[in-house]
Amino acid sequence: MKITKICCIGAGYVGGPTMAVIAQKCPHIQVTVVDLNEQRIIDWNDPNTDNIPIYEPGLSEIVAEARGRNLFFSTEVEKAIDEAQVIFISVNTPTKTYGKGKGMAADLKYIELCARQIAKVAKENKIVVEKSTLPVRTAEAIKSILDNTGNGVQFQILSNPEFLAEGTAVTDLLNPDRILIGGDTTPEGEEAIKALVDVYANWVDKEKILTTNVWSSELSKLTANAFLAQRISSINAMSELCEKTGADVNEVARAIGMDSRIGPKFLKASVGFGGSCFQKDILNLVYIAKSYGLNEVADYWEQVIIMNDHQKKRFSSKIVQTLYNTVADKKIAFLGWAFKKDTNDTRESAAIYVADDLINEQARISVYDPKVSKTKILNDLNYLETRSVEENNLAVSTFASAYDACKDAHAIAILTEWDEFTTYDWQKIYDSMHKPAFLFDGRNILDAKKLESIGFIYNGIGS
Ligand code: NAD
Ligand code: UGA
Repeated sequence: MKITKICCIGAGYVGGPTMAVIAQKCPHIQVTVVDLNEQRIIDWNDPNTDNIPIYEPGLSEIVAEARGRNLFFSTEVEKAIDEAQVIFISVNTPTKTYGKGKGMAADLKYIELCARQIAKVAKENKIVVEKSTLPVRTAEAIKSILDNTGNGVQFQILSNPEFLAEGTAVTDLLNPDRILIGGDTTPEGEEAIKALVDVYANWVDKEKILTTNVWSSELSKLTANAFLAQRISSINAMSELCEKTGADVNEVARAIGMDSRIGPKFLKASVGFGGSCFQKDILNLVYIAKSYGLNEVADYWEQVIIMNDHQKKRFSSKIVQTLYNTVADKKIAFLGWAFKKDTNDTRESAAIYVADDLINEQARISVYDPKVSKTKILNDLNYLETRSVEENNLAVSTFASAYDACKDAHAIAILTEWDEFTTYDWQKIYDSMHKPAFLFDGRNILDAKKLESIGFIYNGIGS
């Protein structure tokens, strides 16, 4: 089967960039990305591609090239499903906030809605691709809905998890470490797998396209995220021990990373990992393990989250302790709010939790982030429901320049590793602050010696 029409349900951080790259690399395939969120679609169609709703280096150029040619963004979900041979489901799968599995299990209501809508609309055989990250064996539920509520047409379900990281989405998509496609081992399943392999083979080496059974593919995605997050919690655990013993976590990371079995990547100690997925996916893994009665497996992975929460708390506590045990009415400048550099995404960012702790201590927070708006920052804090919206409004101010955010501050906290922070005139910032001027580098990106020679009292992570 040759694919010429693809539809993707969900125009978010995964659906948008992934489909833009497929469209760019496969001009012979018409790609339509649909979403229920009208504003999101309006933004994806903004004539100025610098205003598309997701900031990713290189993305606006790709959208400018393909949009209107073979890449379309639309709210007409049913029409797009009807026309496509392949339908990617790329909707959100957040942690459940209600009922059984609350706070742990993945909420699959959006996935089920997609399956029911596909079943209702499809009048020809279709390939349905799980692009969202899903609990192992979700394909079984999707298949049951499609087969029992559809119009008697045949569906093949493939699992094709996405491994891109935000901030590097475009390069990750253009140059993936691997593409994983899971499908049935029946002749129809194998035909569907081949059709999707052929799409990716337009720009990815065949050796990098891995095919497996559906369950291995679904579980590999959760496993990959769990392993990645575990590395961060492991190095963060060592950072606390370094602070007590005089070892330096950067030196330790370098030393262990040169062991080729460990490798140097993903060993940066930090204020704690954020992002929409690591915590959600590990909680989901823990829930799945528990549901099979595998309590030791569940406890093992849950520790990665416990350590991460501890690391965030430890950072805010250290600020309070160092500022003579009180931050009441003190101005603490936050440099960075996004969960990592080069993205405007703030979901589960460590900054939110550190700010929440400090506001509980009656600090005033002034924020500068090159890509995050004040509305988003306040929404993030309001979502926690720790205090009233008015109280958050009073506690937080935002600035269009880091110099303004830091003026008259008692302390600066670096929450995101934006490159521009390393290029600042730190003497000028120091001169504008209250003394002693404290700096808490939650990303270990600044030159401690240089800052100390200016007069800052510098605190990094793990040294
Ligand atoms: P997102 O919230 O940015 O986007 C999801 C979109 O789906 C939203 O715009 C929402 O309006 C839309 N949607 C929900 N239900 C819909 C429906 N029934 N019909 C049409 N549109 C609907 O989420 P995301 O970050 O793109 O993540 C999507 C999935 O991909 C999740 O399962 C996530 O775990 C996984 N994932 C995310 C990343 C990442 O970096 N963000 C990376 C790999 C995998
Ligand atoms: C992560 C994975 O890296 C992707 O492979 C995966 O597809 C994605 O989750 C997902 O499923 O959503 P992402 O969360 O976008 O990608 O970004 P990462 O680069 O993994 O960073 C996650 C968090 O860990 C960030 O807060 C980052 O600052 C932090 N981090 C990362 C560290 O603290 N130390 C490190 O060494 C690396």
